[in-house]
Amino acid sequence: MTHSTDATPFQFSEGALAEIRTLMQKFPEGRHKSAILRTLHLAQEENNGWLSIAAMDQVAQALSITPIEVYEVATFYSMYNLAPVGKYVLEFCHTGPCAIEGAERIVAYAQQKLGIRTGETTQDGMFTIKEVECLGACGYAPMMQVGEFYHEHLTEAKIDQFIDNCRAGNINKGTWRMH
Ligand code: FES
Repeated sequence: MTHSTDATPFQFSEGALAEIRTLMQKFPEGRHKSAILRTLHLAQEENNGWLSIAAMDQVAQALSITPIEVYEVATFYSMYNLAPVGKYVLEFCHTGPCAIEGAERIVAYAQQKLGIRTGETTQDGMFTIKEVECLGACGYAPMMQVGEFYHEHLTEAKIDQFIDNCRAGNINKGTWRMH
């Protein structure tokens, strides 16, 4: 599988640029950096799920800020991927209540099932495993986030179901949610 690299040219789509312009209008002149989180998400969405240097530089250009200001933010939050990732990024919470409720066991199961360790991507480019800090769904531990959705009260069976559905093409990333 070939990936884009940090140097692969990146350009926002016209739709993304229009959204960025609308976002910037919400902030006074000189405060456009306030639109950085959504702009980084747009860049990530349009760069196969990760932020290359080229993509982050386009964010800086779009917001009229310096590249280092973008790198500082992008490297702070776990929701931004700084290397190529799979189609489905499984972000397992491994702190607090999730740890107490078995996150370590669930992550180990997913690692074994997919044949990868945390931070790695499967050979077929389908799955990446990440471990992240509390995602604010402690009452539903253990949990993971995939895209915009939370998958809660995880069990080995739910991991099986999720992965099998992804592989079978039964997952609509925009609407499917596991309960
Ligand atoms: S500790 Fe896992 S969501 Fe809060």
